[in-house]
This record gives sequence, C-alpha cells and structure tokens, in this order.
Amino acid sequence: MGNTSVTAPQDAVYDDRAVRLFSIAAVVWGVVGMLVGVYIAAELAWPDINFGIPWLSYGRLRPLHTNAVIFAFGGCALMATSYYVVQRTCQVRLFSSALGTVHFWGYQAVIVLAALTLPLGITRGKEYAELEWPIALLLTVVWVIYAINFFGTIGIRKVRHIYVANWFYGAFIIAVALLHVVNAASIPASLWKSYSVYSGVQDAMVQWWYGHNAVGFFLTAGFLGMMYYFIPKQAERPVYSYRLSIVHFWALIFTYMWAGPHHLHYTALPDWVQSVGMMFSLVLLAPSWGGMINGIMTLSGAWHKLRDDPIMKFLIVSLSFYGMSTFEGPMMSIKTVNSLSHYTDWGIAHVHSGALGWVGLITMGSLYYLVPRMFGRQQMYSVRAIELHFWIATIGIVLYIASMWSAGVMEGVMWRSINNDGTLAYSFAEVVKATFPFYVVRFCGGLLYLSGMLVMAWNVWKTATGSSYRPVRIPLVAASA
Ligand code: HEM
Ligand code: HEM
Repeated sequence: MGNTSVTAPQDAVYDDRAVRLFSIAAVVWGVVGMLVGVYIAAELAWPDINFGIPWLSYGRLRPLHTNAVIFAFGGCALMATSYYVVQRTCQVRLFSSALGTVHFWGYQAVIVLAALTLPLGITRGKEYAELEWPIALLLTVVWVIYAINFFGTIGIRKVRHIYVANWFYGAFIIAVALLHVVNAASIPASLWKSYSVYSGVQDAMVQWWYGHNAVGFFLTAGFLGMMYYFIPKQAERPVYSYRLSIVHFWALIFTYMWAGPHHLHYTALPDWVQSVGMMFSLVLLAPSWGGMINGIMTLSGAWHKLRDDPIMKFLIVSLSFYGMSTFEGPMMSIKTVNSLSHYTDWGIAHVHSGALGWVGLITMGSLYYLVPRMFGRQQMYSVRAIELHFWIATIGIVLYIASMWSAGVMEGVMWRSINNDGTLAYSFAEVVKATFPFYVVRFCGGLLYLSGMLVMAWNVWKTATGSSYRPVRIPLVAASA
C-alpha cells in the first residue's frame, strides 16, 4: 500500500502495457462520449442545431452517446483497472502480453466501427445492443480474448486466495459474455442488416433481461471491483468487512438476474412476470446498500482523508451516488411509482445519478490513483486540478439530476392531469414546452461535467508526458509518509 511511485523494478514484475493503453483510451473516449452527450442535451433544448443533417440528428447521436460513455469510456476503464488489479492481487504478471495488445486494438476497432455505423443509422434498434452483427461478432472474439487473459492470470496466480475485486471483475466478464451472446442472436439479412431471432414480447423480455443486467454487470459489478481495490488502497485501510464483501457478491449477482421485467411494467408481458421483476428489484436494495456501506466504512479511522485528499473525495462521493441510485431504482420499480416515472425525464435523472455520480466518479478516482503509477510518477501533475475537477463534476451532476427529477415529476403529473369532463388538461406539446428551462439547466450541468473531464485529460497528458513534472509534496504523500 502507500503512495510510492512505480519504478523500473516494479515494471519488471508486472506487465502494464495494456493498463496504460486502456487508461489513456478511457480518458479520450470519456471526452468524446460526454461531448456527444452535451450535444444531444443541447439538441433537446434547441432542436434546430441538427441543421437538417441526418447523422447529426438526435435519434442517431443518442445511441452514439450511450455506446461511447458506457462501452468505450466505462469499458476501457474496467479493462485498464482489471488488468492492473488482477496482477497485483495475484502477484503475477499478466497471462499474455500479446493477448493484452490484441485485446486493446480489437476493442478499439469495435468502438471505431460503432462510431462510424451509428451516425449512419446502421443499428439493430435494441437499446445498448445496437451494433450490427459483424461488429457484434468481432466483439465476441475480443471478449473471449479478454476472458482468457484475465482468467489465465488468475489461473497462474502465486497466492492461493482470489481477492474479492477479482470476483466482481470475473462476474462482469462472464455475465456480459452471456448477455451479449443471448441478446445479439440475430439472422443476418445483409452485411449491415439483421433481425432478432426473438419476436414480440419475448424479444422485449430478452432485451430488458439484457438491458438491466448491462446495468448490473457492466455499470455495477466491474465498478464494484474498482471499489474493493482502490478505496482500501487510497485509504490505506483494509476492507471494512471482508465477510460482508463475499455476501455482497453472491447476493448481488443472484438478485440482479431477475429484475429486468421492471423495464416492462404495464406492457404485454404477463403481469406475474412484472411482479417478479418488481420483487427482485426491491430485494436488490439490500446487497447494493451492503456493498456501499462496506466501501464507505473502509474509511473508518481515516475520515480526515476526505478533507485533504481529492482522490478520496471522488471515490467516496461516488459511493454516495451509488447508494442514492440504488435506493431510487427499487422505488421506481414499484408499479404505481413506475406508472408516474416511466417515459419521463425522471428515468434520465436516475440513469445519470448512477452514470455520472457512481460510474463516472469511481472511474475518475481510480484513474487518478492509477495513471501516475503507470507513468512512473509519484502523483498526478496537478493535485489542484484534481480538486477542481471534483467540484466542477459534482456541481454538474447536481444541476443535471435535479433538473431532470423536476422535469420528470412535472411531465408525469401534467400527463395524468384531467379536467372535470375527463379530457386531458395539457396537450403533449404543452408538456414538451414546459420542459425547456429544465433542459437548459441539464445542458449547463452536462457542460460542467464535460469541462471537468477536459481538466482531467489535460492533467493525465501532463502526467504521462512528464514534460514539466513538478514533484510537489501534498497532504496525500504526507499522510502516507
Ligand atoms: C438496486 C439497483 C437498481 C434498481 C432496482 C434499478 C431500477 C430501475 C428502474 C425501475 C428503472 C426504470 C425502468 C423504466 O421505467 O423503464 C431503471 C432504469 C435505468 N437504470 Fe436503474 N436501477 C438500479 C440501479 C441503477 C444503477 C446503479 C444504474 C447506473 C449505473 C442504473 C441505470 C439505469 C439505466 C441506464 C436505466 C434506463 C434504462 C432504459 O430505459 O434505457 N440503475 N432502473
Ligand atoms: C457530460 C455528460 C453527459 C451528458 C450531458 C449526457 C446527456 C444525455 C442525454 C441528453 C441523454 C438522452 C436523454 C433522453 O433521451 O431524454 C442521455 C442518455 C443516456 N446517457 Fe448520458 N450524458 C452524459 C454522461 C453520461 C455518462 C458518463 C453515462 C454512463 C456512464 C451516460 C449514460 C447514458 C445512458 C445509459 C442514457 C440512456 C438513458 C435511457 O435510455 O433511459 N451518460 N445522456
């Protein structure tokens, strides 16, 4: 533990080439994905800015945003950190350096193909599973390479115990493979067009089993792996309760698999299936909060670090957002609540309190820990810039989610308002018009969050190139000395 720099001997012990590549890629794709997010947020407020160009239209750029932030930004961060963590906790070099490089370039090829095809309107039309069959096949091959390299490293480990972070990363890799293969099953009609093998309500059921578990295993399990490694490291404390972490793992992965139908309330899906989804979603609160408490309590006895150490702020505040979104999710899965929240911006608020607050902040905190070590530095080029990033991002999140919650509840209430004679009190266009100020505030929040990401990109660049590296002593180092 501690904040020692990565030196040549350590480089000889571990193989960090893929870690370096993936961490830089995560930052680059983070900027790109969030830039597209800000653009589509602006399009919702001022629709004319698509200039009538089809590939700038909202419908085509929205999936580009979701794919870029989830799979490119989040995915590269998960890959960087999993390769870093598995080597340290297994005390062994990566299973194969060559596979790591093939994995990196293969995954970048998938991302570039996505960025080209989605704006052209080439899509399977399934949310978060838009990529057409040739790209989906390439992704399958790349994923198998990742799995071989990750589990191969565990296979040759020098310590008997498999640290809990690896369980979470492992579950992420296995579950995402399963979800992708089942949900992407299609019959190709041409090179760039295919049709799902499922139809009707079965197709919807498979899609949202996939969609919800993409949340559970892509946006949650892997990032919990980050939590279980980087929080104890940065806090220089052991995990609060190792026993709880094991219970957390099994309870979470068992429960997530059943909750998908909460995306299909009041649809053609049989009512009892909707109720099963709702029940499992409510149960999900327990393991989610167990994990959050385990992460936050790891800071016991070191709370002062929250004052002095900006990396710790990222890591711990991310857990607060995790707690918030995993409280809100079960509430939204209650059918009567969902009848108000569904189709409204409340859903978008929920998504982004999880995405910007949990996924974004834990990733940024982990990368701030990892990047200096990857480039042989004692710390990031500018610690002040980390602090600045933290505050811009946090204010950005608050603006984003508060405006979307307000807009969402307003939309839900306006849609269901009726006059005495039973007619609707508001036309749909009136409701759209009323959302305008909220969309402007969301745009400002997104712009702030993106600005924070640009500060990070600058800081990472300066740290990596080391052109004018300044070895300033900061509380972070003083605390570990
Ligand atoms: C206990 C945990 C959670 C539960 C039970 C839950 C439940 C829900 C519910 C009920 C919806 C609304 C479905 C609808 O009306 O269409 C939803 C949407 C969503 N949630 Fe969560 N949520 C949880 C945690 C999270 C977290 C931590 C994230 C992100 C990191 C997240 C990301 C999403 C996304 C992306 C959607 C939108 C899906 C879509 O319609 O495209 N959720 N969630
Ligand atoms: C600068 C930051 C961001 C901005 C401005 C932004 C903006 C947006 C906008 C405008 C939408 C479409 C909302 C709608 O359809 O009404 C959206 C959707 C979405 N964004 Fe973001 N976003 C940002 C960052 C992120 C990040 C970092 C993630 C994930 C890690 C993310 C995940 C998603 C998801 C999953 C959806 C689809 C939600 C759904 O279908 O219910 N976003 N975003």
